[in-house]
Amino acid sequence: MIAIGSDHGGVELKEKVIKHLQARGIECEDTGCYSTESCDYPVYAKKVTDLVTSGKCELGILICGTGIGMSMAANKEDGIGISIAANKIKGVRAAVCSDCFSAEATKQHNNANVLCMGARVIGEGLACKIADIFIDTPFSNDERHIRRISMFD
Ligand code: RB5
Repeated sequence: MIAIGSDHGGVELKEKVIKHLQARGIECEDTGCYSTESCDYPVYAKKVTDLVTSGKCELGILICGTGIGMSMAANKEDGIGISIAANKIKGVRAAVCSDCFSAEATKQHNNANVLCMGARVIGEGLACKIADIFIDTPFSNDERHIRRISMFD
């Protein structure tokens, strides 16, 4: 199961990526948003990273205008509200990818578990291809990569 979310800037591309993945038989948990009305990307980063860190979803995909805000945004409950930042959350390894090589390498080397993409940066065809590569590429399990990930994870 793939958790997938976006803000208003990524909602149209999200719909297309979901259709593409479903056509491959891959189940998607769509956490929103569901319209082009302006909204705050950290809210959707939290929904997706929660599903990944809880183990309910194996991988996450986040789409905003650039992919960058989503990659920075994750969740940190502080008792007052939700302050944010995907890579600040233990167990989340989010990577912004705009090319196929990076999508493959970040799975092989970084064991990334959240893919972030920018709807203003790449088109539907490339986004679907990147999502495919991200989902289909396994972590290398090389000792050196395990060691490096353990130094920050
Ligand atoms: C929304 O206007 C835009 O800031 C957002 O989609 C994203 O690009 C942030 O990183």
